[in-house]
Amino acid sequence: MSSNKLKIGVIGLGMVANIAHLPSYHRSPDTEIWAVADPLESHCKKAQKSYNIEKVYKDPNDLIDDPEIDAISICSPHWAHSKQAIRAANNGKHILCEKPIGLNLDDVDKMIKAVEKNNIIFQTATQKRFDPGFQYIKEKIVEKVIGDVFHVSVFWYHSMPDLGENPRKELIQEVGLWRMTDDRCRGGDLLDHGPHYFDLFRWWFGDVADVSAKIRRINENRVNEDHSTILLSFKENNAIAVFERSEAFFGGVYGEEKGRIHGTKGTFYFNVPNEYKKKPLELQKFAKKTKLSKPSKEHISLSQDPQDLPYARELRTFINRILGRSNEDVGFPLEWVPTIYDGRAGLEVVLAAYESQRLNKTIKLPLTTYQPIKWSEGC
Ligand SMILES: NC(=O)c1ccc[n+]([C@@H]2O[C@H](COP(=O)([O-])OP(=O)(O)OC[C@H]3O[C@@H](n4cnc5c(N)ncnc54)[C@H](O)[C@@H]3O)[C@@H](O)[C@H]2O)c1
Repeated sequence: MSSNKLKIGVIGLGMVANIAHLPSYHRSPDTEIWAVADPLESHCKKAQKSYNIEKVYKDPNDLIDDPEIDAISICSPHWAHSKQAIRAANNGKHILCEKPIGLNLDDVDKMIKAVEKNNIIFQTATQKRFDPGFQYIKEKIVEKVIGDVFHVSVFWYHSMPDLGENPRKELIQEVGLWRMTDDRCRGGDLLDHGPHYFDLFRWWFGDVADVSAKIRRINENRVNEDHSTILLSFKENNAIAVFERSEAFFGGVYGEEKGRIHGTKGTFYFNVPNEYKKKPLELQKFAKKTKLSKPSKEHISLSQDPQDLPYARELRTFINRILGRSNEDVGFPLEWVPTIYDGRAGLEVVLAAYESQRLNKTIKLPLTTYQPIKWSEGC
């Protein structure tokens, strides 16, 4: 172990830590995983063994208070993010925080204060921006290659098993069903998955003007919603965005994640393989042709290098930022990196969608009221 490497702590050693954060830090010549923390002993043991980590904390606060640590990845469940981030910021640690970065805007505003006061780097882990395909789309939108975008639509689901009325805790953990069964989340599938595409939409089209939503809890043995359709419009762009998201559909376990972006001169079609496939997205462009000819079709080829996959580029960028380096090796402009303000804005869209469902009306942003939906009392 070299002492001039950045010392990293990873909190929450479940799915996202294992597919994204831990392997990237382990591979980087600039970082060493100094410590990990998780209340679940089996997850600690697994991470410790896989990555040869000396220090393991059962209490995440002990990791956050470890004076040796330079930067922290927060990969705990949603409800733990804001408190852990505030404590880490006050201890001067740089933070890469999973989405949603908090459960409500008051908590996130406290995080923002702590981050600003302590002048640390905070990166929101909405890694889809780092997908070379989504970056390509961003660049082409800026260059108006498909003209003026007027419609974007995303269809994304995972097929979750029905674990019955009183599933065992271990089973819930294993399939990640806590998102829809643990009341501490204060939101279900949309809170978990909405932040990704709301972040991309804002990056592509600018700030959201208003939000309309129809949200359902299809499986009544879940405490939170598992199905939603959201409609967005934007302040500076004429595009309409439709986001369909579900954990109530039947299909492959990893579901499907597909989208279309329609402009006045062409269309992008994308198909995102699930995280475990470790493959780039499939991207096609159709362009308008002359009166009677068919639109042209182009397959956009993207890098197959594992270092260019979204999680790897996200982590490499975080490390570059801490080291004060340019991000040229990643090929992602620093001004596009998702900040804490982007994390807040994505969460605001999610909460506005819940408010739209609760009040049965379109919600204009900024969001001025918010009450969590109590599905058990009917909606
Ligand atoms: N960016 C992405 O693509 C992506 C993908 C998956 C999950 N996530 C986000 O990452 C977070 C974790 O999700 P996951 O799928 O890895 O869940 P997971 O259930 O697989 O892992 C969560 C881990 O956190 C531990 N934990 C529980 N309470 C904790 C606490 N107070 N402090 C620290 N650790 C605690 C659990 O024991 C578990 O090991 C969620 O907020 C989720 O939305 C992001």
